[in-house]
Amino acid sequence: MENYYVTTPIYYVNDEPHLGHLYTTIAADVLARFQRMSGRDVFFLTGVDEHGQKVELAAEKRGITPVDLADRVARRYQDLWPKFSISNDDFIRTTEDRHKKAVAEMWRRLTAAGAIYKGFYEDWYCIPCETYWTGTQLKDAGAWEKKICPDCKRNVDQVKEESYFFRLGDYQDRLLAHIHDHPDFIGPASRRNEVLRFVEGGLHDLSISRTTFSWGIPVPGDVGHVIYVWIDALTNYLTAAGFPDKKMPYWPADVHLIGKDILRFHAVYWPCMLMAAGLPLPRRVFAHGWWTVEGEKMSKSKGNALHPDELLNQYDADVIRYFLLREVPFGQDGDFSLMALKQRYNTELANDIGNLLNRSLSMLHKYRGGVLGTIGSEEACDRALVADVEAMQRGVGEMLGHQEFHKALAHINAIVRHGNRYVEENTPWVLARSGDGRRLDTVLYHLIETLRLIAIQLAPFMPRKGEEMLGQILNKPVSIEDVTMLAHGGWGLLKAGHECARPRPVFPRMEC
Ligand code: MSP
Repeated sequence: MENYYVTTPIYYVNDEPHLGHLYTTIAADVLARFQRMSGRDVFFLTGVDEHGQKVELAAEKRGITPVDLADRVARRYQDLWPKFSISNDDFIRTTEDRHKKAVAEMWRRLTAAGAIYKGFYEDWYCIPCETYWTGTQLKDAGAWEKKICPDCKRNVDQVKEESYFFRLGDYQDRLLAHIHDHPDFIGPASRRNEVLRFVEGGLHDLSISRTTFSWGIPVPGDVGHVIYVWIDALTNYLTAAGFPDKKMPYWPADVHLIGKDILRFHAVYWPCMLMAAGLPLPRRVFAHGWWTVEGEKMSKSKGNALHPDELLNQYDADVIRYFLLREVPFGQDGDFSLMALKQRYNTELANDIGNLLNRSLSMLHKYRGGVLGTIGSEEACDRALVADVEAMQRGVGEMLGHQEFHKALAHINAIVRHGNRYVEENTPWVLARSGDGRRLDTVLYHLIETLRLIAIQLAPFMPRKGEEMLGQILNKPVSIEDVTMLAHGGWGLLKAGHECARPRPVFPRMEC
């Protein structure tokens, strides 16, 4: 069985889970579920990033220890994910022993490769971003006067301390060659270009240890130094894969999903670290865009951050999953508005999918007692529908291979609309009245079989809704294992004599 390894960023524990964290995790879950359904041996990793100055300060502010803060927030994430059907295989916490061991080993390897030296760091640091900035970078970004971070615009601190450095500059040419030789290494294309420009601009050695706080993993053999939180955090992807003890069947990762703000860490620092440590690079790093909420940037000070738990009070988890991946092309920024969510729900889910399911099952019950009959010879419109359904099965896989979630869903929706057109064109109610039983059976069969295959393709996006749809079609409770089994069969699995359940609304209309 082929392996597939997908990751989310590990989330800082200074903050509560919000829409941004939910977004990446849902996207990763869809890929994991789709790949499992396709028969691959999947390892899906998420977790939390617990070290660093930002977390230490956040704990201090609350008057608790960083360990307590990390425990609390890690629990919040672990309680949250099942509510959204997140099917992660592992949840990593960077305070775990397995991780400390992996980071220490990473450090040793970098040292052994001659990629680390001790020096003195005298420049700027942004605590919220956990990012070093040189004075020149601040000047170039017009941020020098105010001494603010070019990325997040918050104040930067001056740092003057002894520090270890990573010889990042030594890997510039190899990294450029890798990006050129592997066109799929960074996605989407616009982000790839951004990284290329950045690397071509010249890579400077990177400070990778701090001495003025202690909440982190100590540098092996020099305990006054704490390892830079990004070196610590990035290594999590290896820790969970078994580094350094076990064989690592899942490494290299197939895809690291991240937000656009942490691209440089994943597409520049991380591959250079791996090269220095003599380890294979991930196959792909994909950076998605950012959400605003009702047109505004989410921020703690505005108090408008969307919390997944609160969303669940109003909306079904699967509907939120669907909306997030359908509304905005993955890779671009987008706006979360309740109006847009309701509109999409009512048109695509309630009107299109819900209606196709309801009317097809209703007619099967009304005219045939819920039982599929023997089909007659296929007409052109039947063949066109089957061809379209089969194209969907191939298309969704290809699109998800490029993280094109919105396209995959649009493709499924197009098949749903085809199904509804097929009903209008074939008017089963007329066939029933005119007594054309064979044609009626043929049409009803094509509708139910189309719905079955649509439900399977929708299942990675909306696991519970997909199971509900299949449950009605197959007339028995359906589990995720059943969905996976069914996904291997193509058109024609349902046989004459099969009885479907009566329709129960899966997508009832929402009031606007
Ligand atoms: N701890 C680091 C990641 C280390 S990975 C080795 C970190 N954590 S974070 O909690 O600050 O952010 C995690 C993710 O949330 C980032 O990918 C970021 O892009 C994403 N988002 C934060 N706000 C967001 C939006 N408003 N919209 C979409 N995603 C956003 O960075």
